Amino acid sequence: MCGIVGCVLTNRKAAPILLECISKLEYRGYDSVGISTVDENGIHLKKGSGKIKEVDDKIDLGELPGSTGIAHVRWATHGIPSKENSHPHISNEGNISVVHNGIIENFGEIRESLESEGYIFHSQTDTEVIPILIEKYMDKGFNLEDALKKTLKIIKGSYAIGAISKNNPNEIVAARKDSPLIIGVGDKDYFIASDAPAILNYTKNVIYVDNGEIAILNHDGVIVKDSKDNIVDKKINLIEWDAEMAQKEGYDYFMLKEIHEQDSAIKDTLSERDNINEIITEIGNISRICFVACGTSYHASLTGKYLIESMAGIPTDVILASEFKYSANTLNKDTLVIFISQSGETADTLKALKVAKKTSKTLAIVNVLGSSATREADFVIYTRAGPEIGVAATKTYISQLICIYMFAAILANNKKLLDSLDEVPEYISEILAKEGEISEIASKYINVNDFFFIGRGLSYPTALEGALKLKEITYIHGEGYAAGELKHGPLALIDDNVPVVVIVPPGDNYDKTISNLEEVKARGANVIAIGSCADEFIKTEVTDSFCIDENVNEIIAPLIYVVPLQLLSYYISVKRGLDPDKPKNLAKCVTVE
Ligand code: M6R
Repeated sequence: MCGIVGCVLTNRKAAPILLECISKLEYRGYDSVGISTVDENGIHLKKGSGKIKEVDDKIDLGELPGSTGIAHVRWATHGIPSKENSHPHISNEGNISVVHNGIIENFGEIRESLESEGYIFHSQTDTEVIPILIEKYMDKGFNLEDALKKTLKIIKGSYAIGAISKNNPNEIVAARKDSPLIIGVGDKDYFIASDAPAILNYTKNVIYVDNGEIAILNHDGVIVKDSKDNIVDKKINLIEWDAEMAQKEGYDYFMLKEIHEQDSAIKDTLSERDNINEIITEIGNISRICFVACGTSYHASLTGKYLIESMAGIPTDVILASEFKYSANTLNKDTLVIFISQSGETADTLKALKVAKKTSKTLAIVNVLGSSATREADFVIYTRAGPEIGVAATKTYISQLICIYMFAAILANNKKLLDSLDEVPEYISEILAKEGEISEIASKYINVNDFFFIGRGLSYPTALEGALKLKEITYIHGEGYAAGELKHGPLALIDDNVPVVVIVPPGDNYDKTISNLEEVKARGANVIAIGSCADEFIKTEVTDSFCIDENVNEIIAPLIYVVPLQLLSYYISVKRGLDPDKPKNLAKCVTVE
């Protein structure tokens, strides 16, 4: 899990630009950073462990000569975060420098064999075999491109690689298999990157590199070749996001900015309605639906099960992508398998997608345009939430839900529900207008160790999502539970040290949820209730409450009631002195299984 960038520039120093570009990818990994450039004097390198700013303050990363270079931010998979394990990695004679995102599965045996030939390794990483192999082949007379091709024949696993060589001071050679890689085409300047926000300040023209392709970037332009060495005529895509959209725009953290973007994001998501209509017509008869996803996307999928089963009567399962293989042989041609993923690059989800494709129709609901899932699936719905930088998913969750609601409503021919989605942005704006109330509630709970979140029916996935947000950005244990299930065990944990967030919108489940609320209250719990502004009970009978427009019923509640839960976690995180955008041990996009 890492981010890479590279650039071949005309008449400009690469290092300061690489530093700026790689900073935009810090959400992909932040335990170390490095930049390597090349000029007529050879390869230059600066790297270190820590966040980009910390490392830059110490060693001035942008101060390197040369107009061609590569850079990397790392999220450790092989070897602890340390200077030695940071990228770029350099070959033994110092002539080759490489950045890599992915995992080289057979690096152990390659390393042993190279060591027996006398090569020396300085890191514990899987990546270091790559520059050493390239150098070995260049020493035999191959040029950088051919040496990389020979290296790719030996390594197994996933990779997006950028390589530079002392012999070619104006060239980057890049390759991709199962890790994201794009090429930016500027005016006489060329870039590689793991993701578009890295390079949007320099170009919006992007080529998506496909699996098995390699790219050669130099002052003459960009050439992309397939695995059989044929030049591929690649389409140049215009990215509509501007660089500012990927910045904080005055908010303290990306997460808060992204929570505030939810009302406008939904408006863009709703534009997928016609596409969803067409997809449903094209898919035709299906007897079963299977959702496959991870994390927050899994919670969106659970909401889909409730909606589709209750409204369209189609049996629907929800399977964690990492557990999918155990269910794979229950699929058939009448099953529609829906993959939900913000990034479209989650390794567990992509693996499951490849398996499901063999038997069933596949649909991907994805935020990142051109990502791997969108190219693998038979049908694609874009969530259109724009770039999400905070590690915790917020606006992309709501956008995923909107897609699922549109899908279920069209499937069930429920025009009333479909039309009611237009009102969701306004309900969210109302919540955002009084976020100070949530901030005040958060202040009271910054020192507790455990939280419970409970809800019934469609509010159960909301409870799970509230608990996940709390865990990932506050490091407080949070547990989401079906409200009716609490008495079957977890009630034993409830006392006055365990606050319970109760999601209780008006509707059929209201009375029973209130009974469950009373159960935890009777055990001493501080109850934080999220309910309707017309609900007098929650205003007077619980420790804290936050109210939502009374017109929001329990059917559309998942789209709205999650917002105060996102804010609660955000404010607890910030008040605990944490950085909600970069929770420890986590990365935005999990490209390893
Ligand atoms: O990109 P994806 O939606 O496939 O990512 C799945 C999960 O890794 C992701 O939702 C994760 O749980 C988020 N950090 C939750 O906020």
